[in-house]
Amino acid sequence: MNPLTFTAKNIADAALTTTGCAIVPIFGRGKLPLAAQQLDQASNGAIKAAIKLGDFRGETGEKLMLPGAGASKRILLVGCGVASKFDRGKARQFSTAVYTAINQTRAKDAVAYIAELSIKNGDASWLCHNLAQTLTAASYRYTNTVTKPKAPFKLAKLTVCPGKSISIRSAQRALDTGRYTGLGVNHACELANLPGNVCTPGYLVGQARKLVRDHPTKLKLSVIEEKKMSTLGMGALLSVSAGSAQPAKLIVLNYTGADAKHKPYILVGKGITFDSGGISLKPGAKMDEMKYDMGGAASVFGTLSAISKMELPLNVIGIIAAAENMPGSRATKPGDVVTSMSGKTIEILNTDAEGRLVLCDALTYAERFNPKAVIDIATLTGACVVALGSHATGLYSNQDKLSEQLLEAGIEAHDRAWQMPLWDDYKKQLKTNFADLSNIGGPGGGSITAACFLSSFAEKYPWAHLDIAGTAWTSGPKGATGRPVAMLTQYLMDRAGK
Ligand code: BES
Ligand code: MN
Ligand code: ZN
Repeated sequence: MNPLTFTAKNIADAALTTTGCAIVPIFGRGKLPLAAQQLDQASNGAIKAAIKLGDFRGETGEKLMLPGAGASKRILLVGCGVASKFDRGKARQFSTAVYTAINQTRAKDAVAYIAELSIKNGDASWLCHNLAQTLTAASYRYTNTVTKPKAPFKLAKLTVCPGKSISIRSAQRALDTGRYTGLGVNHACELANLPGNVCTPGYLVGQARKLVRDHPTKLKLSVIEEKKMSTLGMGALLSVSAGSAQPAKLIVLNYTGADAKHKPYILVGKGITFDSGGISLKPGAKMDEMKYDMGGAASVFGTLSAISKMELPLNVIGIIAAAENMPGSRATKPGDVVTSMSGKTIEILNTDAEGRLVLCDALTYAERFNPKAVIDIATLTGACVVALGSHATGLYSNQDKLSEQLLEAGIEAHDRAWQMPLWDDYKKQLKTNFADLSNIGGPGGGSITAACFLSSFAEKYPWAHLDIAGTAWTSGPKGATGRPVAMLTQYLMDRAGK
């Protein structure tokens, strides 16, 4: 699906290297890097002339495509600003600029000379990882249900010259992990972009089978059908699929990268393949976007595919609670009381607060695996979008160590979260006369009360909840973002000591 590959290799003379495009980062007012000097000579001074004319000043994100010289068909100058201020943020702008400029050409291969790009708060490994991830993710195109898809990214091979501050082996490893993360992001995007009539709970089961086929030795799949759910007492999950013609599926993907004595990390994804709101029907505007209400599940798929390719030495279990929320004649009604697998009874005051209902039973089910930590990922509340907008994922946790590790991974991967409170004061908002708790907590603090609801089903292990309602999707132009695959993959890489 994505043919772009990356190879780490140092090159002595840029002018003698055959390539579709030589990519040279240049700092403003600095000495030209060696590769640029070599290409400048081969082009009779074209690079220095462009700088002298003021056509290229080396400012952050600035790009100039010059005709080829020597064995190189094109030369791409990318501005990197002031050398002493070159940090991770600037490096991300560099990666994006490379993508944008190359995407305007028909170049099939390129060489990036990044030896002299030293990052203030990062290193060559981080830069390789970021470059590979950014290019891989940026080259994703949605094609599944369009007959005339957008032009693909033509670049198929990027050679990266990392310089002497890193071994070629480490640079290659960083390019690989970056690429695998990017592919994981794309995997999540694709699933979340698919329409609800294609991507049903049953379709997600098919996707899980496919993932297992790609990694048959390390991944195992089991699927819990509705009949088994009733035996297990999953009344909350079943109450969501009750109004739909599509049966719910609980998908359990078991990744074994370490021996059995190591407790697993568990990722639980909300997999509502379409959220109409049920009997508490949503208004019409933007209801189409509720096909991405399985964005949490998509991120579990993306993360599992990334870590499987990396062969991380950990045990990880992905649990996907997949269902469609519809107002059919058997649908759950406001005021109905259901019994969850935990034994707790729930009064459903609003059938549109369905994510917590499928998740609570999945969280109880997770207990049997004796987990090291459980992280659920869910497009859970519109209130989280109001609170944090589209930049930060809402993070809740019952353990400080776990929340710190996730915040840290989010910063490292630039897929950030912001911690929110789980105070008892908010928990009180879920009280009702007719059940142990209700599924909504009144008008204030909607993302928090949703998280509080989940927390009472996650008392037996370290747990974190990621509310990705604002970060998993962007409305203009419409599409999935693949978040928080990068954060989760980084979190697991950190646990594996990579
Ligand atoms: N899937 C929605 C949350 C959502 C809203 C995700 C907007 C992405 C964008 C969730 O199931 C929902 O409907 N939540 C309700 C909860 C309310 C009824 C307490 C909401 O946020 O309005
Ligand atoms: Mn809903
Ligand atoms: Zn929902």
